[in-house]
Amino acid sequence: MQAILVKSPGDAEQMYLGEAPTPSPKAQEILVKVHATALNRADTLQRRGMYPPPAGASEILGMEISGEVIEIGAEVTHWKQGDKVFGLLSGGGYATHASIHQDMAMKLPEYLSYEEAAAIPEVFLTAFQALKWLAKLQPSEKILIHAAASGVGTAAIQLAKAMNAEVYATASAPKHQICYELGATKVIDYQSQNFQEQIQQYSQTKGVDVVLDFIAAPYFEQNLQVLHTDGRLVILALLGGLEVEKFNLGLLLRKRLQIIGSTLRARSQAYQISLTQEFWDFAAALFENKTLRPVIDTVYPWQEVIKAHQHMEANQNIGKIILKVI
Ligand SMILES: NC(=O)c1ccc[n+]([C@@H]2O[C@H](COP(=O)([O-])OP(=O)(O)OC[C@H]3O[C@@H](n4cnc5c(N)ncnc54)[C@H](OP(=O)(O)O)[C@@H]3O)[C@@H](O)[C@H]2O)c1
Repeated sequence: MQAILVKSPGDAEQMYLGEAPTPSPKAQEILVKVHATALNRADTLQRRGMYPPPAGASEILGMEISGEVIEIGAEVTHWKQGDKVFGLLSGGGYATHASIHQDMAMKLPEYLSYEEAAAIPEVFLTAFQALKWLAKLQPSEKILIHAAASGVGTAAIQLAKAMNAEVYATASAPKHQICYELGATKVIDYQSQNFQEQIQQYSQTKGVDVVLDFIAAPYFEQNLQVLHTDGRLVILALLGGLEVEKFNLGLLLRKRLQIIGSTLRARSQAYQISLTQEFWDFAAALFENKTLRPVIDTVYPWQEVIKAHQHMEANQNIGKIILKVI
């Protein structure tokens, strides 16, 4: 098969289109002819040699695909050749062929294109897990979503709205419009405004119940300050840094706060299967009636993967960057 390979760990120019062995589906797996895959920050880190795939996963980049089933493993019960599917992988998506566990695959509905479907798994599953399973977001609660125009952020705004929460967001100014369109009540320009002051003002000093954060260290104290009693801080990335120099733990006890960190890729297959199934039970009808939508920044032919990675690393994207395969 053809695949995007990495010459040696480094910048985007290290990637090239080459040949790799076609995976053989295991008993519970299906082999998919990939039509589209999508970029994730993890791909850029993996390309640099800073984020190895989990044990047993393909070394090839790419954590999500959409495509057509062309072969099924011996114990596969609910898919057949020709079915259209999409889903999350632990690796191997930047290729013409990828194998996926039968229970990790979702049926690609007629109302979604291959490109749209490839924009869903990683960011919507991550956001769903964070809001529903980790933060246990409740109707009418208030949530602050940082990096809200990111892939995960745009999914989180929509899911939080679908769960009847009130959404505050931070993003750079050119990305505010999309956050409002997706349902945010207030969007804060973190580059020119202090988000803690803004949240206190918008919430009439009550703060928020949940913070979904990707920036980590530089926001840590302010995140805890904006949380209301019994608030939950979910940290999914460390884009701004990982070390907090000094912090008074008194705030945690006084407000009974919870701090939760998570990475989806490192979770067990059983966990990811349960998440996929619960997510799609919740979301399929909402995608059909357009309450939820994949947010696509750009679709590149996969021959332009270098340009696509550079676009993401320049923080220019709003939502997902898709690679159309062949
Ligand atoms: N833990 C997990 O399970 C999990 C799963 C998926 C993704 N992630 C992580 O979540 C993060 C978002 O992923 P994504 O694919 O949605 O990313 P993305 O679409 O590339 O968006 C990231 C956005 O974050 C903002 N940003 C970057 N650095 C920042 C900083 N230092 N301070 C403030 N804002 C910053 C930028 O938007 P602005 O223009 O608004 O600054 C940037 O466009 C990544 O770090 C990714 O690795 C974690």
